[in-house]
Order: sequence, then C-alpha cells, then structure tokens
Amino acid sequence: MSNVATLTVNGQTIELPIIESVEGDRGIDIRQLRQKTGCITYDPGYGNTGSCKSAIAYMDGEKGILRYRGIPIEDLATHSSFVETAYLVINGELPTREQLNRTSVQLNDHSLVHEDMQIFYQNFPRASHPMGILSAMVNALRSFYPELIASDKDFEEVYVRLISKIRTMASVSYKISRGHKVEYPRPDYTYCANFLNMMFNTPVKPYILRKELVRALNVFWILHADHEQNCSTAVVRSVGSAQTNIYASISAGISALWGDLHGGANQAVIQMLIDIHEKGVKVKDVIKRAKDKNDPFRLMGFGHRVYKTYDPRAKIMKKNCHDVLDRLNYEDPLLDIAMELEQIAISDPYFIDHNLYPNVDFYSGIMLRAMGIPTNMFTVMFAIGRLPGWIAQWRENMQDAEQRLTRPRQVYSGYTERPYIPIDER
Ligand code: CMC
Repeated sequence: MSNVATLTVNGQTIELPIIESVEGDRGIDIRQLRQKTGCITYDPGYGNTGSCKSAIAYMDGEKGILRYRGIPIEDLATHSSFVETAYLVINGELPTREQLNRTSVQLNDHSLVHEDMQIFYQNFPRASHPMGILSAMVNALRSFYPELIASDKDFEEVYVRLISKIRTMASVSYKISRGHKVEYPRPDYTYCANFLNMMFNTPVKPYILRKELVRALNVFWILHADHEQNCSTAVVRSVGSAQTNIYASISAGISALWGDLHGGANQAVIQMLIDIHEKGVKVKDVIKRAKDKNDPFRLMGFGHRVYKTYDPRAKIMKKNCHDVLDRLNYEDPLLDIAMELEQIAISDPYFIDHNLYPNVDFYSGIMLRAMGIPTNMFTVMFAIGRLPGWIAQWRENMQDAEQRLTRPRQVYSGYTERPYIPIDER
C-alpha cells in the first residue's frame, strides 16, 4: 500500500504523506496543505478528520468492535471492575493486585468533598439539572485542590481524586435535591457499592446492598469508560490544548456530554418511551416521525457516527438491563415498548439503509430506572463512567509533542468588505 497520497489543486499536484495506523483508518497528513495549495479541508462535524494519534481506545464501526488499550469491551464487561478498567484506560496496562489495592486505598482517601462545597449545592435552584451542577462543581474543584501534574505521582493523585470525588459529588447533589441528609462514603465499600449506598441509604431505611446491582453498575461504567474521539472527549482535548487545567477541561466535557445527541440521549430515550406509554403515542407513529425528513424528531438511542452496525456496548447493556430487571423482579412496561421499537426499527428499510441500530443509550436508562436512579441523573451516570477516558485523553493530548492549540479554520461565507453606514443613513 502506498504511503503517499497525491492531490491536484488548480493543476498543481502535491504529495501528502500517509500516517499508518496499527488498525483501522490511516491518516493523510494534511499539515502542509494550506501552505502548499492555499486550500483547507471542509469537514463539518470532523467525520473525516483525525485530530490526534491515540493509543487509548480502538473502534471498528463496521464490525462493531470496541477495545480499551487492546482489550475487548466484552472481556472487560465480563471479568473486570470499573476501578480496574479505569486504571487500564488511564495507565495503559492492567494493574497488578498491589497497584489495584493501592488505587482502592487512594480512592477512599480522596472520597470526601470539601465541606465548603456543600454551600454551593444548597444554593442551586431546586430545578437545576444535575449535569449543570456537576459541571460547575468539577470546575470548582480547581479552587479547592491544587492541580499538581508535574510528575506521574502527582498526576496519580489528581486523577484518583477526580474519580473518587465525582462519585461523591453526584450522590451529594441527589441527596440535597431531595432535601435529605448527605450520606458519607464508607471505607469498607468498593467504588460502586459506595455510590449506591451514598445515593440510597437513609437513617430511616438502611440500603441493602445487592451484589448483582453492584456488578451491574460496574458493567454500566465499564461500558462508558472511553470511546475515543467522541464529542465530549474532543472538547476535553480542545480545552486542554489551551493549557487549561484538567478540572476546567473535564467540566467542559461534562457540558458537551449533556446534549441529547450525545450522553443526554439516555434521558431522552426514557422520555420518548414514557410519552409512548403515558400519552398513548403509537410505536409505529414514532417510527414514522423518525423517518420523516420534515420532522426534526429522531429515534433516540438509535444511530451512531462511527457504528454502522449494532453498538457492541448496546448488546452488553441490553443483557445487563434484562438481568437487573429479572433479579429485581421488576416489571417495566418501558422495556416492552423499547423491545417493540427495536424490533420494528431494525427490520425497517429506512433504518437498515441508514445503518441505524440501538446504541449504548437505548437500554441503559431502563436499567438505571430499575436501580432507582432518577431520570435526570442518567447523564450524570454516563459522565462518571466516561471520566477515566477524559482523564486519559486529556493527558495523552498534553504529552503529545505534535499537538498544538486547537484552532480549526473556516470557509468564509459572509459579506466581502463593505463600508460602514452611519445609523441615520441606513
Ligand atoms: N433516527 C432517525 N434518523 C436518524 C437517526 C435517528 N436516531 N440517526 C441518524 N439518522 C439519519 C439522519 O436523518 C440522516 O438521514 P439522511 O442521510 O437521509 O439525511 C442519516 O441518518 C445520518 O444522520 P447524521 O445526523 O448525519 O449522522 P451523525 O453521524 O451526524 O449522527 C447521531 C449520529 C448519534 C447524532 C444520530 O444518529 C442521532 O441523532 N441519534 C439519536 C441520538 C442518540 O441516540 N445519541 C446517542 C449516541 S451514542 C452515545 C454517545 O456515545 O454519545
């Protein structure tokens, strides 16, 4: 295979080097393009643009493959824990038992949030969306904790602090939104068990931990741990490229994730299913609307920029969702509606032609609902899971000597120069 691409612009032919990948798309190196041709590329949404070299996650959208640091998502979901997977994503290798124990100890050591931060929570209006609160609180961490990323050891402290505190901050925001007493983390509980306990334990009704729910939560967060250059990760890298601190960069990523087309889809899916269930909207009418070009409505939890087949995470999530509902003996009419929607959509020519299949968000909300997580916290759950990926990608970007300040160009489409006309003459 040639390692050079040729491009002819206005009769002038130039050669552009091709950057080899280990697997997947190779990259045409266009760094000299503008200088040599006076042209730039035009690629809204960056669907054909490689913004970095990365060794963290690999996806094959045609085959439905996702691996973290080379390890298939299926293996991690079966055998790993979220903390172990987070370690892998951030450090590049699976931890030894000693390293994993050390990480667990550090997660406990950093699990409290500064008491002064509780005042912030109290002052958000009651109707605030938890994603807005989370983004603000993660940004505020910079005011309470030094950034310290000079050495690997310092960085370890920063990332463990982030992973530990985001879980505490999310559960504190839930407790305060309900007007309940905040539940502090317990050093004898694992990461996921602690989260469930902090969310649901109350002085009047002790929360009974169920190991199958703890496992299901581990799987949920493992499935979200990284997804290469998705919208929020690209934002984290982009903000970090200005040498912005890690807390502010991740806070921006949380904001990006909030959107309905990205992480917010898990909440939007449930809303769509509730509308069908409660407002008597017919499944076939939902499908009809999703196919109507004159209607902005989309089938939420369907489609993906990269996956042109069933999202491998969705397969695992679907099973995880069924398992949780079975174990809890929880009957949710939304699950039946979701399965009916899926069945109709995957055999409909529109969805087949457009390669639209369920993505990770299609079944996740139903599982979270059964676990007791309120709908407006679904995207927060996604954010907690995605944190290791954001941390790893932020760092990789910082350490990559080829990276520069993110600054795309544009193809200008406005007025050419024209005179200023004083207001009375207009
Ligand atoms: N329902 C109906 N039509 C769709 C859908 C959908 N969910 N998704 C894409 N299409 C159609 C779209 O109308 C377009 O049709 P045409 O070519 O005839 O004009 C075609 O498919 C391509 O759509 P696109 O918007 O150019 O594709 P994209 O790669 O920019 O969008 C997406 C990817 C995820 C934004 C989109 O599929 C979507 O809006 N899905 C619903 C929201 C959703 O579930 N988001 C969660 C994504 S997975 C979690 C994550 O990692 O963020």
